[in-house]
Amino acid sequence: MNPANLTFIHRYLPAPVAAGGPSLLLLHGTGGDEDSVLSLRDALAPGAAALSPRGKVLENGMPRFFRRLAEGVFDEADLRLRTAELADFVDDAVAIYGLDRARLYAVGYSNGANIAASMLLLRPGTVAGAVLLRPMVPLRPETPANLAGTPVFVAGGRRDPIVPPAQTEELVALLRSSGADVQLYWHPGGHELGGDLLAARDWLG
Ligand code: MLT
Repeated sequence: MNPANLTFIHRYLPAPVAAGGPSLLLLHGTGGDEDSVLSLRDALAPGAAALSPRGKVLENGMPRFFRRLAEGVFDEADLRLRTAELADFVDDAVAIYGLDRARLYAVGYSNGANIAASMLLLRPGTVAGAVLLRPMVPLRPETPANLAGTPVFVAGGRRDPIVPPAQTEELVALLRSSGADVQLYWHPGGHELGGDLLAARDWLG
């Protein structure tokens, strides 16, 4: 398969130096795109290979990874479909770019964190672990995922007006009850990122 046949518009940055560190699947927030999150690679794992797709759903011209009916109210059927689509894309990209799935971490912010969490819950094994920045509970799967030992870093904002801290806590509980090894970080502020990236970088390292 040729990279041109991959089903998401995306950016792929190869690792300039072959290193034993993580590779990153970067997932932007609402209104971002494949380029807007590339700086996360430098913040979290400079020199890592990075794969950055653009969400296919447009909300008033703003790219997202799945449809929502209102702020914080998700179209679950669309979310399930888009999660499968993204996981299939990752499977294909792993083969095409020769990524090591055992070192592939999803790094998502806001809407990107939500689809990353959905992928953990619905398609465990697609990535080795995840950094979820300001995630919500994307859905509650009827069959619990087996995430035994999967490392996940969750960063919530104590004063986040978009993601109530109780949502962050519920997601952490859901991931832990599926066996994931979750580290929870609290930013004292809101939806914007603060010291999260430094903490996530330490965790990844
Ligand atoms: C967003 O604006 O992206 C929301 O906070 C999260 C979402 O809708 O997935």
